[in-house]
Amino acid sequence: EGDKRVAGIDAAIRVVPDFPKPGIKFRDVTTLLSNYKAFKDTIDLFVERYSDKKIDVVAAIEARGFIFGAPIALALGAKFVPLRKPGKLPGETISEAYTLEYGKDCMEMHVGAVTAGERALVIDDLIATGERAEAEVVECACVIGLVDQKGQEKLGGTPLFVLVECE
Ligand code: ADE
Repeated sequence: EGDKRVAGIDAAIRVVPDFPKPGIKFRDVTTLLSNYKAFKDTIDLFVERYSDKKIDVVAAIEARGFIFGAPIALALGAKFVPLRKPGKLPGETISEAYTLEYGKDCMEMHVGAVTAGERALVIDDLIATGERAEAEVVECACVIGLVDQKGQEKLGGTPLFVLVECE
């Protein structure tokens, strides 16, 4: 995006080398969250992008995706659906396993949290390898995208929007 706000967002993300493992350049969003302007700009940019897209559902990925997903859902007038780590949701769930830049994980969603025909937006803080979601996913959106991890290719045709591209 050619928006001037993106440079400020990029600058607010701290890069921590060799965390949590040697060779990983960890993008730390806590420094973005403690910068009011950068955090506000991040939420505003997503809200501006999706405000006329008839989004019914914002689904966000535990844990850092929740931080961005909830204010976006409120601003869009959409329902918020948490995608959680296994064993956390009390109701009947559907689950999806996926790979990470460093390791594996699995996410669960309550059955019935999204219904047929609803338009969903999936939010996370960072896309590395790509994650898949059920329902009619309009787009997957992240604050940070790792170029060399080819996240887009693994989303199976669902469009990906990334605010800050990192190498
Ligand atoms: N999750 C996966 N890869 C990451 C990275 N480089 N920084 C922060 N979170 C991540």
